[in-house]
Amino acid sequence: MTTQSKPATDATPDADVVTIEYDNGVAWVTLNRPDKRNAMNPALNARMHAVLDELEADDRCQVLVLTGAGESFSAGMDLKEYFRETEAKGHIAVRRAQRDSYGWWRRLRWFEKPTIAMVNGWCFGGAFSPLFACDLAVAADEAQFGVSEINWGIIPGGNVTKVLADLMTQREALYYIMTGETFDGRKAAEMKLVNLSVPREQLRARVRALADTLLEKNPLTLKAAKDAFKRVVEMPFDAAEDYLVVRQESLNFLDKTEGRKQGIKQFIDDKTYRPGLGAYKRG
Ligand code: COA
Repeated sequence: MTTQSKPATDATPDADVVTIEYDNGVAWVTLNRPDKRNAMNPALNARMHAVLDELEADDRCQVLVLTGAGESFSAGMDLKEYFRETEAKGHIAVRRAQRDSYGWWRRLRWFEKPTIAMVNGWCFGGAFSPLFACDLAVAADEAQFGVSEINWGIIPGGNVTKVLADLMTQREALYYIMTGETFDGRKAAEMKLVNLSVPREQLRARVRALADTLLEKNPLTLKAAKDAFKRVVEMPFDAAEDYLVVRQESLNFLDKTEGRKQGIKQFIDDKTYRPGLGAYKRG
């Protein structure tokens, strides 16, 4: 189920801090504060709520790719605007700023369409949250990741500690949390923090190819499949078994194209494809 959440702060959702480029089914969403290494400030967080609302309803977006302008994916939270200036306004302002950032990450995690993080460069601290929120992630070999909070005297909040606990082994997570050392895209792929890493000059083409694979699939099934995975991870065995039955039955009802029946028919009757090797043809 989608979590609807509107910006809680009075930050102006400045359109320029996030850009959207539409290209054959893919919406390339770029965090666009390159001078500040795409650090997430209140304006960017507010803008991302609007962007996700727009893209959810826009058929030009069948797959969302999240990336950053210039040499950075995102340098995490903006230490000046998100922390220092917000804290100066008092704890209610802090709570609102948290709701805005946590809110768009949560919204991205349950986004109606498949999402891919394209980690082109620096990825620090709070940036691990949108990275985690995306269903899939591809990094440039040259990208640099770091859980840098220890270096400036805080613990990884914004649920980054939980993200690391879910995505990394305990030894690796604690190593990077406690040392603040950086690691590159290749290491991120080796640790399964991202699905794969490729040389930077191949990054966009590789993400495009991955998006094209997703574009061949039934979009309602993709949404059900990714949600099902994210839900059952937190469920006991029997509850998960039951949930998956009910989720499939709900999909049967929602999918007016009757994709499941088509999938069976095109294999068993028409013999036009093999489900083990590719997707059925959608009408
Ligand atoms: N918050 C606020 N401003 C940031 C920022 C952040 N997280 N990251 C970068 N910036 C700003 C810098 O203050 C600088 O602003 P200025 O031009 O007005 O002086 C500008 O972005 C460029 O940063 P700079 O450090 O000069 O770039 P660099 O390419 O040499 O280094 C980083 C890039 C990412 C290694 C470095 O900026 C950095 O360590 N950023 C903080 C990363 C971090 O710990 N994030 C965790 C937050 S939870």
